[in-house]
Amino acid sequence: MAQKVMIAGASAGVGRALACTYARRGAEIGLIARGRAGLEATERDCLALGAVDAVSHRVDVADADAVQRAADATAERFGGIDVWINSAMVSVFAPVWEITAAEFRRVTEVTYLGTVHGTLAALRHMRPRGRGAIVQVGSALAYRGIPLQSAYCASKHAIQGFNDSLRAELLHECPGITLSMVQLPALNTPQFSWVRTRLPRHPQPVPPIFQPEVAADAIVWAADNGTRELNVGGPTLQARIGDVIAPGLLDRLLSRSSMGFDAQQTDAPIDRSTWRDNLDRPEDEERDRGAHGVFDDRAKDRSLELWAATHKPSAGLLIAGLGAAARTLATVARARARR
Ligand SMILES: NC(=O)c1ccc[n+]([C@@H]2O[C@H](COP(=O)([O-])OP(=O)(O)OC[C@H]3O[C@@H](n4cnc5c(N)ncnc54)[C@H](OP(=O)(O)O)[C@@H]3O)[C@@H](O)[C@H]2O)c1
Repeated sequence: MAQKVMIAGASAGVGRALACTYARRGAEIGLIARGRAGLEATERDCLALGAVDAVSHRVDVADADAVQRAADATAERFGGIDVWINSAMVSVFAPVWEITAAEFRRVTEVTYLGTVHGTLAALRHMRPRGRGAIVQVGSALAYRGIPLQSAYCASKHAIQGFNDSLRAELLHECPGITLSMVQLPALNTPQFSWVRTRLPRHPQPVPPIFQPEVAADAIVWAADNGTRELNVGGPTLQARIGDVIAPGLLDRLLSRSSMGFDAQQTDAPIDRSTWRDNLDRPEDEERDRGAHGVFDDRAKDRSLELWAATHKPSAGLLIAGLGAAARTLATVARARARR
């Protein structure tokens, strides 16, 4: 029987790649985003790739009632919801003192509360059936905050804390519902061409950069296996390990222009006259950006660590852990040598 999947943040980036992956598996897919053209194109792609059904909802995830209505309509049409994935996000690239209180509120309402709203809607349909899989799309930044992305990092940390509480409640009352968080590395998605930014140059994901299909494969695997947490790619593990063993050193490394600031921007100056952001509304209702951003030439389409983690979990953990520890130690040694 076709899997019934709901994806919030489905029209671009990771969510779009996910929708295509589930479509190839012949799923029934509910799609949530705000922009008309992106949603329509996603729905078309899904049906062309083999989805049994695809239905889109133009909803802002900050609106809990609208998310619930989309869930109810989808569950009625498909006969339930098996998998719910929260991938929607917005951010503001700027130092804390240049971000307004309204911008902090908006990032939190979409990136954190949007995830809570999606989870509440999913649970309303999964708890009566006693089964289902919820996946929160996370980031290495759910554990390690970096400069210029405070509102986003805080929201990802909040999701991680919310999950720990909910997971214990589900294990207590409803063990058939799994809750996963997939911590992703830097990805080549449209995010970096429509994020609100006060930086002088074009934002970029901190290299190494992976394609969104790597993230989609990881998320689908986590949903299938009910995996508690999946760290995708060496850089994610490196950030996690570095944060545990030497958080103060990471603070100092990230305070350097080269690591914390320049690494988040290309060399190209931003053209303020044409830049439009997606914080309060879709960047362009009439434009479909698809899954990929503008960094195709620099993005990897596979991760050895992910392959190992999903094929040989124990060996994978060892390989990934050793690789990440070696990279962390090398970074620490380089930093000490420069002192
Ligand atoms: N890209 C990375 O480097 C990276 C790294 C680690 C983790 N992640 C995680 O991956 C997930 C996806 O990120 P991405 O890079 O793919 O982002 P993206 O390219 O900016 O795509 C965001 C998607 O969310 C939708 N969206 C944004 N605000 C929304 C709202 N208020 N209500 C409903 N939908 C909304 C967008 O469509 P509309 O604008 O049309 O609504 C779009 O479909 C996020 O959870 C992010 O934290 C990304």
